[in-house]
Amino acid sequence: MDIADLSFPGAPSIRIPPPGPASRALLERQAERESNARTYPRGFPFAVARARGATVEDVDGNVYIDAWAGAGTVCVGHNHPDVIAAATEQMGQAIHTLDLPSPTKDRFTTKVLSLLPESLQGKMKIHFAAPTGADATEAAIKLVKTATGRRSILSFQGGYHGMTHGALSVTGSRDPKDAIANLMPDVHFMPYGYCYRCALGLKPESCDLACAKFTESVLADPSSGVTKPAGIILEAVQGEGGSVVAPVPFLRRIAEIAKAHQVPLIVDEIQAGMGRTGRWFAFEHAGIEPDVILMSKAIGGGGFPMAVVLYRKELDVWKPGAHVGTFRGFLPAMAAGVAAIEFMQSHDIVAHVAEVGARLKAGLSRVVEKRSFLGECRGLGFMLGVEVLEGDGTKTPSYEKAKRVRAECLRRGLMVELAGRHDGVVRFIPSLVFTAEHADATIRIFDEATAAVEAA
Ligand SMILES: Cc1ncc(COP(=O)(O)O)c(C=O)c1O
Repeated sequence: MDIADLSFPGAPSIRIPPPGPASRALLERQAERESNARTYPRGFPFAVARARGATVEDVDGNVYIDAWAGAGTVCVGHNHPDVIAAATEQMGQAIHTLDLPSPTKDRFTTKVLSLLPESLQGKMKIHFAAPTGADATEAAIKLVKTATGRRSILSFQGGYHGMTHGALSVTGSRDPKDAIANLMPDVHFMPYGYCYRCALGLKPESCDLACAKFTESVLADPSSGVTKPAGIILEAVQGEGGSVVAPVPFLRRIAEIAKAHQVPLIVDEIQAGMGRTGRWFAFEHAGIEPDVILMSKAIGGGGFPMAVVLYRKELDVWKPGAHVGTFRGFLPAMAAGVAAIEFMQSHDIVAHVAEVGARLKAGLSRVVEKRSFLGECRGLGFMLGVEVLEGDGTKTPSYEKAKRVRAECLRRGLMVELAGRHDGVVRFIPSLVFTAEHADATIRIFDEATAAVEAA
């Protein structure tokens, strides 16, 4: 199957600029009845009719190129035929049997563990968490606390690990924390390797990895004020932090420090994993070996809820029932996950992501060079981002301009979301079956949209 055949042909096409009348009616009903915490309809003001491959159609007949992919979840494209067939067949057999074994669960477990790099093969177990990414984070925090008997956690500025109580505690974003008293105590935030906005005000050429050294000193210094942690949690590429790729030496140093101090290293691959960065796991770019790996989003075939924690066998000190929950074994998601991975393997989608991702990044970088209000273009594979600035010669992020870029893109048929500091980064995280044609259309629309913002 040619991956170009998975999407609506000829996308994008805008008949009525969003929100059209049919969308508007549904948005109004939603606003009346749904919680004010809803998020994405504010940036994408339309109602979905259908989706296919790397494209989405709204109820007014507009077709968009989807460079958002359900927040980086849709891997082999919306409604992939193999995923639908596998999930449908499974639904005719069994849907919900918690953590009882089954041939489908066995196949899924084998498939997921087989994706691990050679050096981790045979060394890890899998825990089926409740189905969201945040659930995987919660499970991992409890796991390392239980295994080490310690209580503190080191996390990184800009990191995102979910919105539940524990996961939010280890997440960098301050806004969602402001209204919540008594989040999990003993979490300490270290500077991340975000060289464009170095927390220490240094330059990568001369910093001597001061950010990683800071973490080292926190662990080594008996007066650092931080008790020996139960775990260190990080993303190898920060997603919600703004597609920030940690420098390889930074990741290696943190992994060495964790090992030297016998602190389990938890790598959150919930967004960056499953091929999104052009490797099955983002940590593979640095050749590091995590002790715990978090996976969700794409692991259920790109839309079916599923989350797992992979961890070294030595950490498996959990007693029976130590971390349970009803929805820990949604069999259609496992069948869908196996189908998606098999499609990716048979079509070498990971190499495709690396290749088309490089083309997309090169094109976006050319646009960035033309616009005085655009800053760094960065990322790996299909996890890219562009910094949007005030345009006054400083690196001050501009949420207002970023919002306008998003709106101008949408008017032209391209879905892009915002993230990063002050939501000042436009992100490109399409499904992994995004083609070179989709990439070229994305570059063209981004060029036109940013020209319109500059001219305004
Ligand atoms: C890296 C990372 N970890 C955890 C989460 C939380 O996942 P969920 O929204 O499914 O709880 C996300 C969600 O965006 C994420 O990007």
